[in-house]
Amino acid sequence: MSSFWSGWIIVLTVATIIGLFWLLFGNRTRPNTEEKTTGHVYDGIEEYDNPLPAWWLYMFVISMVFAIGYLVIFPGLGNFKGVIGWTQVGQWEKENEKLDAKFDVLLKKYAAMPVEELAKDEKARRSGQRLFASYCATCHGSDAGGNTGFPNLRDQDWLYGGSPDRIAETITKGRKGAMPAWKGIMTDQQINDVATWLAATDPAQKTAAGAQTFATYCAACHGADAKGNLMLGAPNLTDNIWLYGGGIGDIKTTLLYGRNGQMPAHENILTPEKIHLLTAYVYGLSTNPQ
Ligand code: HEC
Ligand code: HEC
Repeated sequence: MSSFWSGWIIVLTVATIIGLFWLLFGNRTRPNTEEKTTGHVYDGIEEYDNPLPAWWLYMFVISMVFAIGYLVIFPGLGNFKGVIGWTQVGQWEKENEKLDAKFDVLLKKYAAMPVEELAKDEKARRSGQRLFASYCATCHGSDAGGNTGFPNLRDQDWLYGGSPDRIAETITKGRKGAMPAWKGIMTDQQINDVATWLAATDPAQKTAAGAQTFATYCAACHGADAKGNLMLGAPNLTDNIWLYGGGIGDIKTTLLYGRNGQMPAHENILTPEKIHLLTAYVYGLSTNPQ
């Protein structure tokens, strides 16, 4: 705030306070012995000109003294910061520090507990959920239910594995899905065959040509049975869970252009204690009875 406007506010505020004192004391009716009236008459009812009751007057005085004291101690008078240097940000930071210190103690305690046990601890799950909301929900959804390209973390279907170790590794180091693009490598016929073969729910639609193409180009990563490979993050292609969609059009897009889902590494963002707590939270999502 420029010093002109600061001065403007100070003058206005001080003038208002002085004006209020004058209003209160300058116009005060002195206690009198005879009953005077103000001369106002409403429907034959006259108004007495009695002084304010003392307690009422004192309330006014107290609130004005409070206002002056407040403006001396706290910021409020233009740019004047108040004699104790209080700020909103300072107070917020102090409260945050207190919370952080409390959370640190909790995190230390949790760090000593195995993931399986921590995943069942109600209080730890609530703390884990808060961390998840801050660091993970933008991609995986606030309920961890996922979205196209972002895996659901509540089910039993894992790209990289759902053991505590694998989850911790995923969060710490991140993951990069590497599904190659087949445009120009496979013929349109082959892409069509294998996409139809994968999308088919009716076994009668599972052509030998599709199976053949799959065995040639895809089995190395997705497995001979197409059930996936946790080491490569190659998804199971036989279930009803699709990261990028299981319609024939979606599958063709995946095949033509490839897919490269990226889970960012969090080792430079989160402490090992926080990663441990998040691992337990994620582990609990699919293993705790809902
Ligand atoms: C920028 C988006 C993004 C953020 C933020 C993110 N993730 Fe991920 N995560 C992904 C993507 C994309 C994948 C899938 C990677 C792939 O396709 O190979 C993934 C995969 C995972 C997996 C592996 C799932 C499986 O089936 O094996 C876990 C576990 C996971 N994330 C947990 C977390 C946690 C916990 C956080 C918060 C600390 C988090 N993610 C933050 C995008 C994100
Ligand atoms: C080099 C290993 C590799 C090969 C070879 C490979 N894939 Fe993949 N595939 C992956 C990986 C890894 C992913 C997951 C990509 C991601 O997470 O972003 C994937 C994803 C997919 C998906 C998406 C699944 C979903 O849930 O949406 C389909 C469909 C698929 N592959 C089909 C095939 C077919 C058909 C072939 C053979 C033509 C093939 N893949 C060959 C590694 C491979």
